[in-house]
Amino acid sequence: MDGSFWRQRWADGRIGFHAAAANHHLLAHADRFLPETGGRVLVPLCGKTVDLTWLSERGHDVVGVELVESAAVAYFAEAGHVPTVADIGPYTAYSHGRVTILVGDFLALTPAILGPVTHIYDRAAMIALPPAMRVRFVEVMRQHMTPGVTLLLLTMTYDQAALPGPPHSVDTAEVMLGYADGCTVELLAQGDAESMPPRFAAHTVTTSDWLVTAGPARDLR
Ligand SMILES: C[S@@+](CC[C@H](N)C(=O)[O-])C[C@H]1O[C@@H](n2cnc3c(N)ncnc32)[C@H](O)[C@@H]1O
Repeated sequence: MDGSFWRQRWADGRIGFHAAAANHHLLAHADRFLPETGGRVLVPLCGKTVDLTWLSERGHDVVGVELVESAAVAYFAEAGHVPTVADIGPYTAYSHGRVTILVGDFLALTPAILGPVTHIYDRAAMIALPPAMRVRFVEVMRQHMTPGVTLLLLTMTYDQAALPGPPHSVDTAEVMLGYADGCTVELLAQGDAESMPPRFAAHTVTTSDWLVTAGPARDLR
């Protein structure tokens, strides 16, 4: 899967993943994920999600990263803001208020370009990518997860042999392989997925909400 897949989806308006309201898993876990204000939240593969607005209104600076420029343009237009536009490394940065969207490839994002963050919110980012790209995706994520950084990671599982992604099935083993080393991984909730595309109708889709905290593994003695 290359960038043309996503550019075509945005060009065709096939963005069923986009939701009009803030994500209810984010709302449900906000007090664990974001107990304080004044943080800096990274949102990989952000699309034009209104979760950017919600996070900023909760008192955080927010940096989304999105490949498709029209998505960033639409986000600010739909929010009723005229963004400033600047170049930051290989990215075009659209900014207004506390929200910035870096337009470009998330897989090229380094800490030198981004700077430090306190939280990362992954809704439909890891599960948007095929397996080989997910390995590189997690490597990039881990570069930004200095001790204390918390990641809210929303995944889903279903019979991947029966249905192609995206969204892709990402199981517990893969979450642990990517994040358990050097982090504390907590399963916050599991449930049945709602609002899936019609092709999933005859399949069981289970969502899992993870809180990953970077830092040494906790001493449970
Ligand atoms: C399934 S959508 C999810 C969007 C958003 N997280 C949401 O919840 O609405 C995945 C998004 O990732 C973007 N994308 C795909 N590959 C990317 C990459 N390598 N770097 C940045 N964005 C990418 C796509 O254009 C698309 O908007």
